[in-house]
Amino acid sequence: MNVNEKRSAAGNAGRLSALGPAAAAAAGAAALSAARSGADGASSVGETVPDTASPSAAGMPERRSDGAYAFLDEAREIEFYRRDLPTPWMNYLSNGTFHMMLSHAGGGVAFYKSPQIWRITRYRFFHLPTDRSGPYLYIQETDRGSGSDAGSAADLNRASAEYWCPTNEPSFTRPDAWKSAHGMGYTRFEAAKGGISARTVYFVGPEENSLIWNLNLTNDGPEEKTLNVYAYAEFGMMEFMRELQWQCYNKHQVSVTHAEGGVLLYRYGVENQPKPEETPLVYFAADVPLTGYDGDRDAFIGSYRSESNPLAIERGGCTNSTLLGGDPCGALQMTVTLAPGETKEINVFLGTAPDEAEALLAVERSRQKDFAARSFAGLRENWDDYLGAWNCELPDPEAQRMLNVWNPYQAQRNFLFSRNISFYATGTFRGVGFRDTAQDVLAVVPHDIEAAKDKLRLLLGQQYADGHVNHYFFPHEGWDPVTSVHSDDHLWTALAVWDLIAESGDASFLAEQIPYYDGGEGSVYEHLRRAIDFTEDHLGANGFPLMLRSDWNDQLFRVCREGRGESIWTAMQFGTALLKMIDLAPMAGGGEDAERYRKLYDDQQKRVNEAGWDGKWFRRAVMDDGRFLGTDEHDQAKLWLNAQTWSVLSGMADGEKGRIAMDSVRDMLDTELGIKKLHPPIVDFPSAEDPLTNYNPGTGENGAVFCHANTWAIIAECMLGRGDLAYKYYRQLIPSVAMDKAGIERYRAEPYVYASNLFGPDSDKFGLANVSWLTGTAAWMYVAATQHILGVRASLEGLRIDPCIPPEWEGYTVSRRFRGALYEIEVRNESGEGRVVKEVFVGGERLEGNQLPIYAPGETVRVEVVL
Ligand code: GLC
Repeated sequence: MNVNEKRSAAGNAGRLSALGPAAAAAAGAAALSAARSGADGASSVGETVPDTASPSAAGMPERRSDGAYAFLDEAREIEFYRRDLPTPWMNYLSNGTFHMMLSHAGGGVAFYKSPQIWRITRYRFFHLPTDRSGPYLYIQETDRGSGSDAGSAADLNRASAEYWCPTNEPSFTRPDAWKSAHGMGYTRFEAAKGGISARTVYFVGPEENSLIWNLNLTNDGPEEKTLNVYAYAEFGMMEFMRELQWQCYNKHQVSVTHAEGGVLLYRYGVENQPKPEETPLVYFAADVPLTGYDGDRDAFIGSYRSESNPLAIERGGCTNSTLLGGDPCGALQMTVTLAPGETKEINVFLGTAPDEAEALLAVERSRQKDFAARSFAGLRENWDDYLGAWNCELPDPEAQRMLNVWNPYQAQRNFLFSRNISFYATGTFRGVGFRDTAQDVLAVVPHDIEAAKDKLRLLLGQQYADGHVNHYFFPHEGWDPVTSVHSDDHLWTALAVWDLIAESGDASFLAEQIPYYDGGEGSVYEHLRRAIDFTEDHLGANGFPLMLRSDWNDQLFRVCREGRGESIWTAMQFGTALLKMIDLAPMAGGGEDAERYRKLYDDQQKRVNEAGWDGKWFRRAVMDDGRFLGTDEHDQAKLWLNAQTWSVLSGMADGEKGRIAMDSVRDMLDTELGIKKLHPPIVDFPSAEDPLTNYNPGTGENGAVFCHANTWAIIAECMLGRGDLAYKYYRQLIPSVAMDKAGIERYRAEPYVYASNLFGPDSDKFGLANVSWLTGTAAWMYVAATQHILGVRASLEGLRIDPCIPPEWEGYTVSRRFRGALYEIEVRNESGEGRVVKEVFVGGERLEGNQLPIYAPGETVRVEVVL
């Protein structure tokens, strides 16, 4: 179970508005707000509070980046005012089973469980035009819409001027007024043209596996109007790679049929599909009668046309085509008559079901009068519950917004999708990455312990009896996993399990039995123990863990192909895992292990501080040829970020070494837009014939600002007690802050979620953010800010308060759900140092230390902390 799958006690909240107000305004901005609330003031699907379309509205949020967008914090939304943003700014709509990635302009892709084998709609990744196709609606006035035979180019243009899309894209004709918004699990479009306003909310509700398109149409003019409304989606052929390879014959094996009651059914039955028994049927239907439909893309779009000018719409109606082989689509035509001032609601459902009977039942359920409102209320309730685990008020509103809304939201999407599919990742070959998902768990633990546990069960089931793990795997597709062995993968779970136990206060999970991938089973603790054993059994000539295929830095395999290379960073990660295991061992009855773990830790620590120390920083690795990587002796890749940050995180850096190493980071790697991953970038190191990486200098793995790795610098600075630096590193990568600095046309990616990396100063596009949404940055930024800067951290003994904030902050508040109780924490920085807890008062009583007692579930506790 996760946030998406929980059902709500639905049915009571969020009634849909049946009728709109008698709208006075003719068109444009005023019409947008008119369509928004029902005559009785009842809230409708996806309604937002402040009216940002009207310039005179009170409480109007600040428009940023040349008016491109604004945050609506109370509604947990971001609104967009520009159709042609530099890239599609995405959202993920999901109930945990049915998913839709949808852009601010309506482009995107729907899939059932897996975008590899059950990709329902087609999205043309990296092809022009950008951001096609999507779940589009078209609005057409009937008295102007028919008649064109679409012969000449002039005809085309004339005809296309007669219909428009609430998503703005893809019709050539644009609405007069338009905006869109992403919220928690939904995306909304508000548009108006020619006296008609349309408000569409797309979301996936908890009750059915479907994308719900909730459309409200309002006639703002003085005369009755009859409209054709078309809903359109291009169907993909489920198995994406097979589609690319052999659609010429596979397309003969798909069909779109029309079932009684106005339901289109798309059936994919290609031979050899990996899971025929689970391959769903797709249904496409609405809750109003159809005046036409199309299942054949050629019939609806026409030749040498696109979604911008579908032939059927220009001709004023669908052709009622079905498809027994060909290029499938779903198009529904509905006809709506609106009296002046009248609002009507239409709901469209693009969903999946195991078979035809189930599909028809799902449509029947979806056509119930309050289905959309109930589904939306359920979605909202789930997110309220999930995000209710944490709320803070900070002197920095940008940080506050990230920590209360967008960062936990993004982290949850990473947890759900690993690094599988985004605007940048095509969802073709990466299932669940072991390393990636084990880190994603860290940010879900405080919000949903059960979901975190389930994910850990899934991960630990990918572990072999000797302790190593599959690098990535395919729980939905049933494909063989990718089995390359990396020095770090198996060690991440110790961190996640420790967090889970600290959060829950329940160590029984350690005893749970979980199978090994290659047979047999063992307890969770035994899995973790074998992970440690595996590393202990794979140490190199210098006593550091062998690099194997790579460590966290994927590119390192190029200097360790012969199997002799060692990772000094993994020694630090190993040390961090060992510290967790020293805590966990006694809880699992493995007290004697703790002693061995301590010895291993001490031994690694010694090596890190001796052979691993370069004078001003820690070295990164030992290459196959026995030379060190990450030393001042070389002219390239002298200094690597991870080896510095983790020397502190692991507690391994002796004496002043941690501070000196982090000073080198500040002096040599930090920029105004984040910390570079390494310096100087690699061109021909270790040799021109076989360089460590082919990335251009300043990009990707070669000296870009790799945001994920920046998070560890924040934690390291907090551990060193340098709150000003920690905060600098944190704030400069807040996406909206970085966008302000770089400029929207340079930064390009979303200002509400982290990107994986920003091109560095050595590239020609310093500040270009890319590979957004699915990145370990989300989980670790959340950990860094909530647990280390704000210092509210679960420990095995309870909740601990250990802030390291910028010295100039006067204070902040946090409300944190922990073991069922709600802690309302107020921190006052009376010393002006931003750290070191002096006094703690609970309910007015003074406590010793900075460890808060455990309270009964349901209790609310007021805590005052003085620094
Ligand atoms: C990508 C990978 C991650 C890896 C990182 C650094 O983000 O998903 O597994 O650790 O790159 O190479």
